[in-house]
Amino acid sequence: MLQLSDVTKRFAGLEALSRVSFNVEESVIKGLIGPNGAGKTTLFNIITGVFPPTEGTVVFLGKDTTRDRPEDIARLGISRTFQQTHLFKSLTVLENVMLGRHYRTKAEFFACGLRLPWARREEKRIREQSLEYLDMFGLADKKDRIANKLPMGEQRYLEVARALATEPKLLILDEPTTGLNEYETEEFRDLIFGIRDKGITLLVIEHHMKFIMELCDEIAVLNFGVRIAEGPPKEIQSSPVVIEAYLGSEEKVDH
Ligand SMILES: Nc1ncnc2c1ncn2[C@@H]1O[C@H](COP(=O)(O)OP(=O)(O)O)[C@@H](O)[C@H]1O
Ligand SMILES: [Mg+2]
Repeated sequence: MLQLSDVTKRFAGLEALSRVSFNVEESVIKGLIGPNGAGKTTLFNIITGVFPPTEGTVVFLGKDTTRDRPEDIARLGISRTFQQTHLFKSLTVLENVMLGRHYRTKAEFFACGLRLPWARREEKRIREQSLEYLDMFGLADKKDRIANKLPMGEQRYLEVARALATEPKLLILDEPTTGLNEYETEEFRDLIFGIRDKGITLLVIEHHMKFIMELCDEIAVLNFGVRIAEGPPKEIQSSPVVIEAYLGSEEKVDH
């Protein structure tokens, strides 16, 4: 589904990624882990078109997207959440998800403003679908709350609901358990399994080793911009180079 080949990214003097290659197969949950500063978010930014790589190529569903803009990549079916949640803070929970849906449909905002009949019909449909996404995350009865008034865990859920509302084929989550307690983290894992069961492929960046080990079918490990390992969780967990990388950054493998 997604193929990165020899991707290098340099920021003034710093090589954040060095010839990284990896694939995401359709219908899997793939993990990307690595210590802080390893280049994980940079890789996501390249996949989603925030900036192009310095060298190398990205191919999504057979199309070269290396230099495509974020809107075009989103339209091809990639949606993401951010390490720091990017919600429309002063809009309601429902409005946040509806904006995700709008993105997907032909209803331009001006048409909704003019209240053209087809736009109204579409608005109703979007509203209903958005409520379904909220329901999936247990947020339907909080639909009229202001987004940034929700506890952190629910803001994370809301961001995923909004990303899902664009009907992606590939959903990318950047450190989704940040700010979640242990119980919420477990619940979140089950929600991700539910998303996979709907036929959506997932790529998940995490810091939290235990979470990712229980979640993923396959894991790639970055360290200082280099892919140092890739394989099923069991293999990764016992890989000396991975343990070394994590201990080297004073992070616990079992945490
Ligand atoms: N837009 C940017 N401009 C300059 N340096 C950046 C930028 N984004 C990331 N970096 C640098 O690239 C390296 C990798 O960062 P990042 O991809 O955020 O790591 P991770 O997500 O694995 O913690 C870091 O040294 C970071 O400071
Ligand atoms: Mg990051």
